[in-house]
Amino acid sequence: MSQSQSQSQSDAARTPRPETTAAKGTGVPGGHGTSAAGVTITGLHKSFGDNEVLKGIDMSVAPGEVVCLIGASGSGKSTLLRCVNRLETPNAGTITVGEHEATHPDVNLDAMRRQIGMVFQQFNLFPHLSVLENCTITPRRVLGQSKAEAETEALAQLDAVGLEHLSERRPDQLSGGQQQRVAIARALTMKPQLMLFDEPTSALDPETVGDVLASMRKLAQAGMTMLVVTHEMGFAREVADRVVFMDQGLVVEEGPAAAVIGDPQQPRTQDFLRRVLHPLGE
Ligand SMILES: Nc1ncnc2c1ncn2[C@@H]1O[C@H](COP(=O)(O)OP(=O)(O)OP(=O)(O)O)[C@@H](O)[C@H]1O
Ligand SMILES: [Mg+2]
Repeated sequence: MSQSQSQSQSDAARTPRPETTAAKGTGVPGGHGTSAAGVTITGLHKSFGDNEVLKGIDMSVAPGEVVCLIGASGSGKSTLLRCVNRLETPNAGTITVGEHEATHPDVNLDAMRRQIGMVFQQFNLFPHLSVLENCTITPRRVLGQSKAEAETEALAQLDAVGLEHLSERRPDQLSGGQQQRVAIARALTMKPQLMLFDEPTSALDPETVGDVLASMRKLAQAGMTMLVVTHEMGFAREVADRVVFMDQGLVVEEGPAAAVIGDPQQPRTQDFLRRVLHPLGE
């Protein structure tokens, strides 16, 4: 698909997002009145040995906002996401998630991580559990929900991603795209206030990508705060409020999705988008 085709299609499909904070969170599939948490990152540095991967990142995601993070392989996108929920410990800088300061020595990591749902390229479902059990095990163990309560919630989230009818299957009886939608539903059963996605569709067969992106779009329209690492430029144009382009550990360009993707100003952004949108150099 050419860039202009993809632009006109995504412009046509663009759907207004809820504007009021009153609407935020209440429309999240299976809605619980969960409020949305924002993220603020200031002066973030992260090194692995001598390799400085993040070289002073400043960026934010407002409550209810959807930010797509794009950039070449190795530019530090996954490391940035992993710092947000403290799967990595930054060397310098501050990160706040809602009321939690992720980088504070006394941060309550369990409480902070309960606010954050994360969906990875690999879905990491428990292979020996049914879809429903995958979605109820953590709410039961961590939130102390009863079996009935957890199942009601899980079925509502599975319904929202179109998979309620497959709740008794095991993960290996599902397509990759279906498994990824289960992973999204599973994350949502914990009632997160922020969702982090790290290339959720890049391991999928092309024909299953659309259903996963549709579930993510629905979540965005319901007011979830989302930070999404993706190479899906059509999705970014249509769904993201803002796009951030990273290169070699720094934010090089950011702005409204249509501007950054449709009319990038920085040479490195232009070069990256040319390679992503026209991989054969056409
Ligand atoms: N745990 C680790 N130990 C050592 N080096 C690491 C570790 N995690 C990441 N790196 C290095 O940090 C750099 C950035 O990696 P990162 O995975 O954040 O990039 P990325 O932008 O997500 O790339 P991709 O698009 O390929 O997923 C790479 O050079 C990588 O080798
Ligand atoms: Mg990565």
